[in-house]
Amino acid sequence: MARVTIREFQRRKRAGEPIVMITAYDYPGARLVEQAGIDLILVGDSLGMVVLGYDSTVPVTLEEMIHHSKAVVRGTERALVVVDLPFMTYQLSAEEALRNAGRVMKEAGAGAVKVEGGAPVAETIRRMVQAGIPVMAHLGLTPQSVHQLGGYHVQGKTPKAEAQLLDDAIAVEEAGAFALVLEAVPSELAGRVTQRLHIPTIGIGAGPACDGQVQVFHDLLGINDDFLPHHARRYGHVADAVRSAVRSYADDVRRRAFPTAAESFGMTTASETRAPSGAEPAPRAGSAEHQAAPVPAEAR
Ligand code: KIV
Repeated sequence: MARVTIREFQRRKRAGEPIVMITAYDYPGARLVEQAGIDLILVGDSLGMVVLGYDSTVPVTLEEMIHHSKAVVRGTERALVVVDLPFMTYQLSAEEALRNAGRVMKEAGAGAVKVEGGAPVAETIRRMVQAGIPVMAHLGLTPQSVHQLGGYHVQGKTPKAEAQLLDDAIAVEEAGAFALVLEAVPSELAGRVTQRLHIPTIGIGAGPACDGQVQVFHDLLGINDDFLPHHARRYGHVADAVRSAVRSYADDVRRRAFPTAAESFGMTTASETRAPSGAEPAPRAGSAEHQAAPVPAEAR
């Protein structure tokens, strides 16, 4: 199955079809997201905060991004997987950025990379695009600069900041970025940028006028349920479901209600506990299908 390419998202902007993007950080998450019909996945460096427990995205390393991106790529067949270049892997020089972006493309199998910043990274974006690496840009609240910004605040609220953001947006488009993430900017400003650019804008906390929206998997699903950003909506309560399921399991073990004979092996039951990959799942031990299934020769 062919993967979606960057041209598809440029077509969607022209056609006025909203673009849906969501983050994923591992194989099962990526599979579920793709099965739900998403064809643009971001392996965000939010990985550091929502999966690795860091207090910002600053400590995330290239090795961590590659490790997780490989799993996401393995979990997808069709989606375009965009991978964040982490802090200080693209700011030192265009050469270093090219080398690191090249690793993400070659080792992780990414379809594109994302970098934060405007005019100051435009030349680096140009070099990566010239080398054949599709680049998504990111403006507004750029979390890798949290120490410079003094916290996670809405950006572009003054006329000067608004003009700067618009200039930066034009600079990254002219440098060849294929799309632009706008994070935590007033809706009116995001609307103006979206009107002005030919490439799609993908908002997170940037209002409804953007060409698409991106959200963090863990926010949407209620996995880390102690915090919900202002811009997010919870579409699931996975933390509740996990706590409840794990409590039930623990209760069952403690009162010796798990495992029963149905979840145990006898001398005559099949020895395989999992189907080989690509095959139908093995029937659960003790299930009707299991009783009917032929016993493999090696297990007899
Ligand atoms: O790292 C990330 O998840 C991101 C999104 C917030 C756009 O950059």
